[in-house]
Amino acid sequence: MSGSGHLWCCLVVLVPVLFALSSTSHAGYPPLTLDYYASSCPTAVEIVRKEMECAVLSDPRNAALIIQLHFHDCFVQGCDGSVLLDDTISIHSEKSAPTNSHSLGGFRIIDRIKNILESECPGIVSCADILTVAARDATLLVGGPYWDVPLGRKDSKTASYKLARTNLPTANENLGSIITKFLTQGLSVTDMVALAGAHTVGLAQCKNFRSRIYGDFEATAGNGPIAEAHLSNLRSVCPPLEGTGDENLAPMDYVTPYLFDNTFYHLLLEGEGLLSSDQEMYSSILAAQTKEVVKRYAADPIAFFEQFSESMVKLGNITTPESFIEGEVRKNCRFINT
Ligand code: HEM
Ligand SMILES: *[C@@H]1O[C@H](CO)[C@@H](O)[C@H](O)[C@H]1NC(C)=O
Repeated sequence: MSGSGHLWCCLVVLVPVLFALSSTSHAGYPPLTLDYYASSCPTAVEIVRKEMECAVLSDPRNAALIIQLHFHDCFVQGCDGSVLLDDTISIHSEKSAPTNSHSLGGFRIIDRIKNILESECPGIVSCADILTVAARDATLLVGGPYWDVPLGRKDSKTASYKLARTNLPTANENLGSIITKFLTQGLSVTDMVALAGAHTVGLAQCKNFRSRIYGDFEATAGNGPIAEAHLSNLRSVCPPLEGTGDENLAPMDYVTPYLFDNTFYHLLLEGEGLLSSDQEMYSSILAAQTKEVVKRYAADPIAFFEQFSESMVKLGNITTPESFIEGEVRKNCRFINT
């Protein structure tokens, strides 16, 4: 009797302590909330959705561009809209970094949404939040999962060209190095494999897959008639000589390029991943752990959708204390407020 009473006391004391611990270690400061704009701008989420609907309907590539843009925002100083800043006297933009230039897009979609929100509720909705919600809507609009988006990010007054160079993974980087970049951001190996599943939509430039299609593609894909036909098609899009057709495009999921499904993982099982970094998750000799995750998502699309949703929330949760202390809500996503 007295034992259980004692236990009850302990729980009452422990619960608030555990809660306090978890809200500082897992979440940013201050924590993001689902109803952040509920009274200050109740139509915000709806406006983003409507504009994303138009954008994706007019060109499904826009969904891929917005998802990639959100990822590239969050891996540099956290999700703070830093990727959206243009070059100025005081800003060396992230968009001009090698991994980003000639690759990122969707900026005008964000501008359009921002303009509408500034006339609806001026100075309230951050560019970082707009991009995060837009990435969720983009996913949903091409057939992917829905998830609730925690909100309340602030926009940075700085960009980091340097971190854009060092933090973002590249197509010819080895698996261990890419895993390290995700771990550094607080994302696990499972998060990495699930998030890379975003490559089920969108296109890559020849310069990012040339060494793969003239390198080990044949070895991983084998020489069945379908793989051979696919490879010769890729080679016609992307000539062997560096500097020729560098920006020519091919879908990373050539079966269903604009459908958010788990075909990307099937292609890895077939050895037909377009990017070397993607195929390595299945084929590298160091891929023991990632290979199992790839197999799971190839076999179970629902497991992929559930993990993708959770991992996207984790990606969107990457924030720095500075962004809340020194950040602002930009009027124009391309420039800091004057
Ligand atoms: C795991 C490490 C990753 C690497 C090495 C990587 C690399 C790349 C590369 C090289 C491209 C082609 C870019 C171009 O040629 O312009 C690309 C495109 C893309 N990436 Fe990733 N990526 C990774 C993870 C992610 C993640 C986590 C997401 C989002 C959750 C993402 C979303 C996209 C999308 C949607 C595209 C297509 C964009 C378009 O159509 O232009 N990627 N990625
Ligand atoms: C993301 O952050 C919110 C609030 O800051 C928190 O409630 C949630 O558990 C976090 N989610 C993940 C998957 O980290």
